[in-house]
Amino acid sequence: MSTHADSKPWTVPALAEAKRDGRKLVMLTAYDAGFARAFDANGVDLILIGDSLGMVVQGHDSTLPVTVADIAYHTAAVARVLQRALLVADLPFGADATPERAFEASLRLLQAGAEMVKIEGAGFKLDVIRHLVEREIPVCSHLGLTPQSVLTLGGFKVQGRGEAAERLRADARAVVEAGASLLVLECVPSPLAAQVTADIPVPTIGIGAGAGCDGQVLVMHDFLGLDSGHRRPKFVKDFLAEGGSVAGAVRAYADAVRAGTFPDAEHAYAS
Ligand code: KIV
Repeated sequence: MSTHADSKPWTVPALAEAKRDGRKLVMLTAYDAGFARAFDANGVDLILIGDSLGMVVQGHDSTLPVTVADIAYHTAAVARVLQRALLVADLPFGADATPERAFEASLRLLQAGAEMVKIEGAGFKLDVIRHLVEREIPVCSHLGLTPQSVLTLGGFKVQGRGEAAERLRADARAVVEAGASLLVLECVPSPLAAQVTADIPVPTIGIGAGAGCDGQVLVMHDFLGLDSGHRRPKFVKDFLAEGGSVAGAVRAYADAVRAGTFPDAEHAYAS
């Protein structure tokens, strides 16, 4: 299946073009050069240095202990080997508490090789997004289940059910209005994610949000079928079992995302 001109490096403006052209985006997390090289060479469009590294690499129970220095270290390792994929790095918990802190942290991540930073939530984060975008730092927003809110949410749960659906749609429009170029939707019912996708001009990337999103992301340990030591969410699929090798797993995942066959109903929340 043809990809982004097959070998052209991704840019931020090309993401919105992909949405306009109806081309699905394939994203994975990565934390080191070896896996990042394999993902990049086998058709992944976007790589995320997720603060999920706190759980899958460092062994914590949440993403809260992750620091900017941790993200910068893994960003630099991955950035050294990428040829084509766009590199997105998470602003970890607390690093986006004020616009000024977020700018300093983002600068560090861009200096390490990131091309976009990801920010969880809306509300006061809208000012943070605006502050960064005005200073030429591309932003990916993250709504739905925002793992940095685990203490206030009381666990990792599906979001946007019932009356919360309209709030999530309004937040999605607001983060785009503030300047976000990409939106990750985590653990939201598929019909709601499809509505949000239709509402906004920038691509949505789903994780547990159904096939109606403009692209998909998985945490690499989940995608490779590794036991993370945590409860396995419904949307996780072991592509290594299907692909037979890391390269084969990436190709199977990328093909399924581009064909719209992943996630199927078994790996999504209907309501
Ligand atoms: O930290 C992370 O890996 C993420 C993905 C789950 C989207 O935010």
